[in-house]
Amino acid sequence: MFGREKIEYKTAEQVRVMRRAGLVVADAHAAVRDAIRPGVTTAELDAVAAEVIGAAGATASFLGYHGYPATLCVSVNDEIVHGIPGDRVLEPGDVVSVDCGAIVDGWHGDAAFTVVLPDADPADVALSDATEAAMWAGIAALATGERLGAVGEAIEDSVEAAGTGYGIVQEYIGHGIGSAMHQPPDVLNYRTRERGPRLRAGMCLAVEPMLTRGSRMTQVLEDDWTVVTVDGSRSAHWEHTVAIGPDGVWVLTAPDGGAQALAAHGVTVAPWE
Ligand code: MF3
Ligand code: CO
Repeated sequence: MFGREKIEYKTAEQVRVMRRAGLVVADAHAAVRDAIRPGVTTAELDAVAAEVIGAAGATASFLGYHGYPATLCVSVNDEIVHGIPGDRVLEPGDVVSVDCGAIVDGWHGDAAFTVVLPDADPADVALSDATEAAMWAGIAALATGERLGAVGEAIEDSVEAAGTGYGIVQEYIGHGIGSAMHQPPDVLNYRTRERGPRLRAGMCLAVEPMLTRGSRMTQVLEDDWTVVTVDGSRSAHWEHTVAIGPDGVWVLTAPDGGAQALAAHGVTVAPWE
């Protein structure tokens, strides 16, 4: 039944392989961050990520997923998620969300970040910062909460605290992750009446809020992939893959395991090593 599908609880050994996948994703992110600037095409960024993943002996998880044609999703301005890399040339002030997944020995890592290119509108920077802050609030709730619903509560509270009337996208949400990219349970970015499953060691979850500067309503373009805001407002997307271990959380796609960002929430990360 909906919301009651079987959760894949990972062993320590499996989480350690997922950490390797997570670090490949982190390396791909770093390389794309270095390459991203006005004048570059989104296809060039895709090639940068593909090179890093291939050199690591890993596999790009998006390529071929339900027919998806690229290594990255690169979503620009009013594009929220699932933008397909191509000959689009990035421009000053663009809001660029980069999403990347990699597989190592059958185990997945998945993460996304947003950058605002130079000549940024400060309101776009604030949007990206609020989205990142909401993601970390959600991740902190995995450490401090009892049930998965705590994540959506924390994200919604964080967005409300930003106080600028951002839209929280509802059609696209976080997910369990492990031997497949998308697994139960759903990880909502907003409050519901459902408290959700109990948070337990061995759960691995992708936490990925998407915020807009306007309406939360979405539509899919003719390419059947690119998701845009209905009102044309700009959007940001941040994501990390997180493992819950016996002693706490470990952010598998963050090089420092999430230590720095979670310290601000009073959370100490607990690598499952
Ligand atoms: N990374 C997306 C997610 O976070 C999924 C990308 S869909 C794909 O769930 F088709 F591009 F792979
Ligand atoms: Co994801």
